[in-house]
Amino acid sequence: MTEPINEKRRQFLVGATGVVGAVGATCVAVPFVSSWQPSEKAQAAGAPVDVDISALTEGQMLTVEWRGKPVWVVYRSAASLAKIDAVSTELRDANSEKSVQPAFAQNAHRSLKPEYLVMVGVCTHLGCAPLYKPNAGTITPDWQGGFFCPCHGSRFDMSGRVFKSVPAPTNLEVPPYRFLSDTMIRIGEQDKETA
Ligand code: FES
Repeated sequence: MTEPINEKRRQFLVGATGVVGAVGATCVAVPFVSSWQPSEKAQAAGAPVDVDISALTEGQMLTVEWRGKPVWVVYRSAASLAKIDAVSTELRDANSEKSVQPAFAQNAHRSLKPEYLVMVGVCTHLGCAPLYKPNAGTITPDWQGGFFCPCHGSRFDMSGRVFKSVPAPTNLEVPPYRFLSDTMIRIGEQDKETA
């Protein structure tokens, strides 16, 4: 059953090479930010947001707003997940010990279900909007896919883990969330057993 609050939500499905915006981004075009129309009541209360991921296909990313911030849901392919361990020695906080995420996401895939990444789409440097760059070789010759912040060049892997030698100090934030079903995620709440 759909809750009334979620009927007002808009979700944004972008392609595998789509551009994702963020709150506070002043240096890149963010075409869809103005389309956000969160319920004022929900925004004030910081209410959870339910996300229907049934239309999401491998490689795609969907963006919703939660507490005034963009939250991404990325459906990672098996091939994409297989590359995660390959870059771990190049990461500043590979084990997410200094980064913000629920306990259940302190793992290499930084998620409850490996294939679905749920993450706050705000750069941990100065709050710009990282871009989703899943295709190999698009940022550097050895790029394996991930997220790139155009403001000052911070790079993150497909789990949102920050690379060494970039200005962002920590990995991208993972919000609390839980699965209501195989195709519905509630952002802003987590199960007690995963806390
Ligand atoms: S805000 Fe992202 S690199 Fe500076």
